Formats: sequence, structure tokens, C-alpha cells
Amino acid sequence: MNLESILFSQGFGTRRQCRGLVADGRVSVSGEPCTDPLADFDTAGLVFSVDGASWPFHERAYLALNKPAGYECSRDPQHHLSVFHLLPPQFAERNVQCVGRLDQDTTGLLLLSDDGQFVHAFTSPKRKVPKIYVATTRHPIDDTQLQALRDGVLLHGERTPSAALAASARSGHELELSVLEGKYHQVKRMVAAAGNRVEALHRERIGGYTLPANLAPGAWKWLDDAALAALRNTG
Ligand code: URA
Repeated sequence: MNLESILFSQGFGTRRQCRGLVADGRVSVSGEPCTDPLADFDTAGLVFSVDGASWPFHERAYLALNKPAGYECSRDPQHHLSVFHLLPPQFAERNVQCVGRLDQDTTGLLLLSDDGQFVHAFTSPKRKVPKIYVATTRHPIDDTQLQALRDGVLLHGERTPSAALAASARSGHELELSVLEGKYHQVKRMVAAAGNRVEALHRERIGGYTLPANLAPGAWKWLDDAALAALRNTG
């Protein structure tokens, strides 16, 4: 692929801007400056740099973000900053989207991708992917609440009950909940329907992929093949 197309595919601006970056001597490939926008490179394992900042070529972007509280998943947020403020602008430019949404005050694992099929697969109500949340509750958690969550609770405006795949208390006020669906305020509404209230909510796991312990709040990482395989492992 030629260098202009490489930069364009990775979200470095319009074709004209990408051509300009190369012609202005701001781009290096494997450590060597290259000023020819039409120079061809094998993209497998390619790392280039723009203004000294290196960027590994990825045909598709699959990312995990440790979402802090106070960020909206929308690219056009209403009251807070967007999670896209936590990411390099190249991702918005190449149309990376959130895979499902977390509330602005929810923290933890958020996936993002520019692969439409991947986004659809993880957000489609038909494809049931378990998600593990840890909720801090206002009131002590008791067995009646846990049983109600496992049996299914009727959410306001719904006809069929929503049941947790699993529900357990990690401590008096810390509830671990595994849910398949991803309806609006799903966990908060379920916990409220079971007679308690969520004070803080954190997503720890999607499918077989756990938020890495070394990914600080606000930090993101590329997902490698092993992480993608773990995500798809919903068994
Ligand atoms: N359930 C909620 O209530 N909020 C979230 O952000 C995610 C799941």
C-alpha cells in the first residue's frame, strides 16, 4: 500500500493532508524518513511515525478503554466530555465507535472498533454476550435481592422479566452481576427493581475478556488476537 493510503487508512486526515504530511518530511517508516507519498510498503507489522510519534498499522482498530466516570460514550456528548477525548484523534477520524454504551458515571471496560461486523456482533440483542459488572449498593445486599436478580425482575415498561446469569455479594455493599442484555440502565434498573440502589457501577468483563489490571482509568490499548479470541469466548 502506498504511504499516502496508509496514513489515510489510519485516520491521519484527508488524502490531501496525508500527502502533505509525507511531502513535508514529517513521516518515517521503520525509522527512515520518507517524502514520497507513492512509496509502497508491506503493511504487515508496519510501524511508521508522524512527527516522531510511532503508530503501528492496524487494518481494523479493536480497542479496550478503562472508562473513568464523567465521560459520555457519545461522540457528540450532552453534558460531559466524550470518551473520544481520551483517545488519539485518529480513531474518531477513522470512524471508531463504542461497542455498546456505558452510562457517564459507569467505569471500566469499554470496547471500541471501526469494524462494523464486530460492533454489531457485540451489541446485537440476538448474540448474547455475558458482561460482568460490580455494583456498589446504597443498602446492604441480602439473599432475597440476589434471588430476585437471578429469578428475574420486571423493569419499568417491560413485559418480560430480566434475569441475571449470576448474582452474588462480594461484600455487604458490593454486588457482582453477570448479565446478557444491554438495555438502557440495565443493571441500575435491575438492582432498583430488586429493592436496592446502585451508587457506583464498574464493568469488569465482556465474554472471556477481563479489563487488564494494569490498564489505568482513562488508558486504552489495542486488542491483540488473543484478547479478541477471549472476547468471543462466551461459554
Ligand atoms: N447497566 C447500567 O445501568 N449502566 C451501565 O452503564 C451499564 C449497564
